[in-house]
Amino acid sequence: MGTDRVKKVCIIGASGKLGQYMVGHALERGYEVVGVCRERSVPKLAAFEGRMTVVPGATNDPEVIRRAVAGCDGVLTVLVPWGVRQYASGTAQAVLDHARPGARLVFSCGWHITRDGKDRYSRLFTLGVRIAAVLGKLVRAVEIDDQVEACRRVFASDTRWTVVRGSSLEEGESQGLPVWSRHVGDPVLAGNLTRRVDFALFMVEALTDDTLVREAPAIVGRLTPSALAHAGASQAP
Ligand SMILES: NC(=O)c1ccc[n+]([C@@H]2O[C@H](COP(=O)([O-])OP(=O)(O)OC[C@H]3O[C@@H](n4cnc5c(N)ncnc54)[C@H](OP(=O)(O)O)[C@@H]3O)[C@@H](O)[C@H]2O)c1
Repeated sequence: MGTDRVKKVCIIGASGKLGQYMVGHALERGYEVVGVCRERSVPKLAAFEGRMTVVPGATNDPEVIRRAVAGCDGVLTVLVPWGVRQYASGTAQAVLDHARPGARLVFSCGWHITRDGKDRYSRLFTLGVRIAAVLGKLVRAVEIDDQVEACRRVFASDTRWTVVRGSSLEEGESQGLPVWSRHVGDPVLAGNLTRRVDFALFMVEALTDDTLVREAPAIVGRLTPSALAHAGASQAP
C-alpha cells in the first residue's frame, strides 16, 4: 500500500505510553486519527484534543471496535496482557472481525511471542517470562498466555497483518527507525533495547511498508551496539 492510500487510522490502546507516541507519529503524517481507550483513561489524551476522535470503551468490546475502525485504512493495536479476562485475545479478535477487508493491521507485543518456533531465547529470558506468567496469573494481574493466543489468532488470519515484537523498552528521545530481524537470537538484536517512541515509529511506518505484511519483526534500537555492529548488513528480506 502506498503512503497515499493511508488516510485514516485507528489506534487501539491510544492512552498508553506506546499509544500516545503512535498518535503523535500518525498526526505528524497527516492521518485522520481515531483512538480507543478505557473511559477512565480519556483524560490522558487531553494533549491531542481537537486533533483526534476518541471512542471510549474496552478494547475487547466488539461493538466499540466496530465503531472505531469504520472507514480506517490502518489499525494499530497495543496488545496488552493485563487482567485475566482474555483482554488481548478479545481485542485482537474484535479487530480481525471488524476492520475493513484489505486494511493494514499492525499489532504490538514482546519478543516472547514466537511465530514459527525458531526464535532462540536465553535461559534468563525464558525464565523471566515463565515467572511473569505464573506470578501474573497468581495475582490475577497479567495473562501472558492470552497474549500468545491473541498473536496465534493474528498469525492464522488472512488479513494484511504485521506483529511487531518489541525488545526491552526505555524512554528517551528518538534515535530513528529501529532495525529488525525475523528471529530473536539473531546477533543484530543482542542489544535488546528500544526507545518506546521508536517502537511507536516502527508501528506507524509499518502501515505503509508492504514488505512487512504477514511478518513478525523483532525490533531493536538502531543505535544499540549490536545494531551498529551490523549496520550495512541487510535486514531480513
Ligand atoms: N513494557 C515493556 O518492557 C515491553 C517490552 C516489549 C514489548 N512491549 C509491548 O509494548 C506494548 C505496550 O506496552 P507498554 O509497556 O509500553 O505499555 P503502555 O504503552 O503503557 O500500554 C499499557 C496499555 O495497557 C492498558 N491497560 C493498563 N492496565 C489495564 C487493565 N487492567 N486492563 C486493560 N488495559 C489496561 C493501558 O490503558 P489505559 O491507558 O486505559 O490504562 C494502555 O493502553 C504491549 O504490546 C507490550 O506487549 C512492552
